Amino acid sequence: MGQRTILVSLLLLFNYLLVAETETANQDFIALKALMDSWKDVPLSWSGSDPCDDGWDGIKCTNSHVTSIVLPSMGLTGHLSGDIGLLSELDTLDLSYNKGLTGSLPQEIGNLKLSNLFLVGCSFIGPIPDNIGSLQQLVFLSLNSNRFSGKIPASIGNLSKLTWLDLTDNQLEGPIPVSSGGAPGLDKLLNAKHFHLGMNKLSGTIPPQLFSSEMTLIHVLLDRNQLTGSIPSTLGLVQSLEVVRFDSNSLTGPVPLNINNLTKVSELYLSNNKLMGPLPNLSGIKSLGYLDMSNNSFDPSEFPPWLTTLGSLTTLKMEGTQLTGQIPVSLFSLTNLQTVVLKHNDLNGTLDIGTGYGMKLHRIELQDNKIDSLKQHDEVSSIKIILVNNPICQETGTTESYCFDLPFNITYAAPPNICLPVTCSSDQILSPKCKCAYPFMGILTFRTLSFLDWEKDAGLEKSLMDEFKEDHLPVDSVSLSNLTMNQFQYLELSLQVFPSGQDYFNRTEISSISCLLSNLTKHPFYFIAYTYGHYEDPMESSKSSHIAFITGAAVGGSVVLVLLLLAGIYAFHQKKRAEKAIAKSNPFGRWVSKDSECMTPQLKGIKQFSFVEIQKYTRNFSQDNDIGSGGYGKVYRGTLPDRQLVAIKRAQKDSKQGRIEFKAELELLSRVHHKNLVSLVGFCFERGEQMLVYEYVPNGTLHDTITGKSGIRLDWIRRLKVALGAARGLAYLHEHANPPIIHRDIKPNNILLDEHLNAKVADFGLSKPMIDCEKDHVTTQVKGTLGYLDPEYYTSQQLTEKSDVYSFGVVMLELITARKPIERGKYIVKVVRNSIDRTKDLYGLHEFLDPVIINLGSTLKGMEKFIDLSLMCLEDSSADRPTMNEVVKELENLLHSAGFNATAESSTAASTSSSYDEITTGSSQHLYSNESFDSSVVPLQQKIKAK
Ligand SMILES: *[C@@H]1O[C@H](CO)[C@@H](O)[C@H](O)[C@H]1NC(C)=O
Ligand SMILES: *[C@@H]1O[C@H](CO)[C@@H](O)[C@H](O)[C@H]1NC(C)=O
Ligand SMILES: *[C@@H]1O[C@H](CO)[C@@H](O)[C@H](O)[C@H]1NC(C)=O
Ligand SMILES: *[C@@H]1O[C@H](CO)[C@@H](O)[C@H](O)[C@H]1NC(C)=O
Ligand SMILES: *[C@@H]1O[C@H](CO)[C@@H](O)[C@H](O)[C@H]1NC(C)=O
Repeated sequence: MGQRTILVSLLLLFNYLLVAETETANQDFIALKALMDSWKDVPLSWSGSDPCDDGWDGIKCTNSHVTSIVLPSMGLTGHLSGDIGLLSELDTLDLSYNKGLTGSLPQEIGNLKLSNLFLVGCSFIGPIPDNIGSLQQLVFLSLNSNRFSGKIPASIGNLSKLTWLDLTDNQLEGPIPVSSGGAPGLDKLLNAKHFHLGMNKLSGTIPPQLFSSEMTLIHVLLDRNQLTGSIPSTLGLVQSLEVVRFDSNSLTGPVPLNINNLTKVSELYLSNNKLMGPLPNLSGIKSLGYLDMSNNSFDPSEFPPWLTTLGSLTTLKMEGTQLTGQIPVSLFSLTNLQTVVLKHNDLNGTLDIGTGYGMKLHRIELQDNKIDSLKQHDEVSSIKIILVNNPICQETGTTESYCFDLPFNITYAAPPNICLPVTCSSDQILSPKCKCAYPFMGILTFRTLSFLDWEKDAGLEKSLMDEFKEDHLPVDSVSLSNLTMNQFQYLELSLQVFPSGQDYFNRTEISSISCLLSNLTKHPFYFIAYTYGHYEDPMESSKSSHIAFITGAAVGGSVVLVLLLLAGIYAFHQKKRAEKAIAKSNPFGRWVSKDSECMTPQLKGIKQFSFVEIQKYTRNFSQDNDIGSGGYGKVYRGTLPDRQLVAIKRAQKDSKQGRIEFKAELELLSRVHHKNLVSLVGFCFERGEQMLVYEYVPNGTLHDTITGKSGIRLDWIRRLKVALGAARGLAYLHEHANPPIIHRDIKPNNILLDEHLNAKVADFGLSKPMIDCEKDHVTTQVKGTLGYLDPEYYTSQQLTEKSDVYSFGVVMLELITARKPIERGKYIVKVVRNSIDRTKDLYGLHEFLDPVIINLGSTLKGMEKFIDLSLMCLEDSSADRPTMNEVVKELENLLHSAGFNATAESSTAASTSSSYDEITTGSSQHLYSNESFDSSVVPLQQKIKAK
């Protein structure tokens, strides 16, 4: 007893020390360590003492707090430790597709601030903890395909922000909880769009209270449970519904009349219940595409005539519903109809499909009816009709094809394989693009049958590829195959995702791809992955870690042991403190160390400056040296000891990035070298400052030039050259930077002119390399400047290189008109488009042209083509716009035909940064030596003042 008391005190003391002496993030570190200890296989990268900075796979941080853990398909085994509750800032937890993750979901999950919880396709057991209802911020809750049991916690009803509730394919039982007294229930989820509760063991009735007119549900999937009672008429109040699945329960009673009010429903599954009364009239559901009312106990009735008025109907299934009489011929003339299944009824008379049957009709199943004749108007028909066990086939000796039951041959028409026969090594697989590789694989299961429309033109493959491309994932191709209808009448397809570049994916990539697939809310299917076993880094059993014995200690019994442990922990702690101290003095010192290879930046050629140095270079950030400000903060001019001029961007407090982000930006900028891009000289990261040191570009912005502010006047040829330079810079970002960079804020303010008036694109502050799944699709926030913003990006929020092309088109117009893109409520793009008259000289746009160009007197050769090119860049649809490379080619041609050899220059375009030796700081004269149009350049006022 005494021993235990001491043990507890020591542990408490230890905890106290731990919390008191270290940074907050330490708690996160401990939590991750504890998670790691409860998992058998963790990614190799989980080493080093700082998860936020040491590049732990799947970990994202903000302000040194872990905000996201995304580790789907990592082959993790073990359980989820309650220590997860320590991650006070965790926003996203995705551990999907780790079949080896079992045990129960810890209560502590309720301590988090999660907005996304994805645990799809693991092996979790036991009840869903009640305090999941404490996750007030939760938007996505996906616990599908596990082995959760017990009741659905009523507390889920507290999650007022929830839009996605997926508990499909578990072993949940008991009633669907609704609120009562003060207790919450699912009826409170007014923001929910999806209730996916199918394939469980839910029982009791569907509570009428579950539905109300305030709800915004689009999917209610309750299929394959043990629900009883009747369908509540309140269902008819949820006008937003699109898919309703109540099939395979034990529902009784009549179908409420007002279900006919649900005008948006496209798929309605009522099959395999004990529904009674008259067949419901669904004539009001004009959008109905898939209707299955099979196997119920409806009153015998004639074939309902209103069925022939449902113009959207693709599939009609009414097996075993006591239908009598003759099938009206008008049914078959429904233009979208594909499949009709009316087996096991009492339909009689003649089957007449008429002459005007729908083009898509391909199968009519009428087994076990009383049909005695068939009227086929076409000699050859592609429609498969099955009349087995009807009088027409019961005459002896009939050999007609309609008397044979061919199973529904569902095949998936994959796009044709164009590969020469190649045999891949043992476990590699040939991709649709003819490469042997290790694909990431799994099963897509369709929640609904909308799928049939995908089949054509490789629509599904393309759609998936588009998703991957949008997130810039390194996917080469996808392949779909093995279409089957599973035992529950769900269609399934095998999906293979092939890597581009290498022949395998790395963990980050798998995690991003899985994250995308576990979160595909646009599509009517869910994905369950197979474990990916081809990471190049071998799985490693969790390394014994210093912290590991904290949990060990709690179960150990001996004081001596604990004392030893404490000593050990203390030593570890001292070491960590020392590491932290080192890290503080030089946060990037660790970059070169070996244990963080995957994060080692290539910072070749850029310098790290101390704060004191920068102070000296800018004369303590003197007013004189303040040369501008932007969203990022202020910009100062500085002079390095070697007299090189630099522009120093000093981040404001609120625009400072996390260490990781700053590091990422540095890595990015340091890799980008092109003479038409402002290049990075160095950085300062000290005393809480974040500064980027750029080459100084003496002639200011293109904006200042166009508006006349800088006193520089550009003639036509020079404007063409500026356009070409900026275009080359952009083309380099799009095509040659790795990863490609989309600038996102192209405008004359971000195009600088050097001492030769060459254009240099600046301000990559908003630029974003396209790498990870997470960042892109969670926070696609439209950024940019009004007037230059691509309307397609603005509406779709899908960012592509073509958005820069659009902005560039605006800049081109600005170059020749010297007008702001939006002036007095008029949008320059519209004005030019509306005024253009291609039959006239200069397209009749004289009045819009910048008088400066005309006054400078040169001929305006190529102006029309320039305008054509800019309008192409401004096409509404990004697909119709040229690439920046094409723009460069066209501008080169223009310059060439205007008498200037532009291509000769482009061969030297690669990474030469201009030499500042040419600038003599005391001089206000520039030598435009060997250029023939010098006279047109009038640098009235130089920005560099003699000092
Ligand atoms: C159908 O909806 C309309 C208005 O949307 C309503 O007036 C009518 O009562 C509803 N019908 C039924 C049967 O609930
Ligand atoms: C079909 O069945 C109905 C009753 O179910 C009967 O009235 C009708 O005469 C039958 N028609 C033919 C052609 O047998
Ligand atoms: C199913 O369809 C495919 C292609 O349409 C065909 O090659 C195959 O023979 C069919 N199988 C059966 C059982 O009809
Ligand atoms: C398709 O099914 C066959 C036979 O069941 C199986 O051997 C093959 O691996 C499957 N293909 C994929 C991509 O899963
Ligand atoms: C994984 O691949 C991505 C690019 O797809 C790359 O940025 C990252 O460095 C790779 N990680 C490792 C550990 O190789």
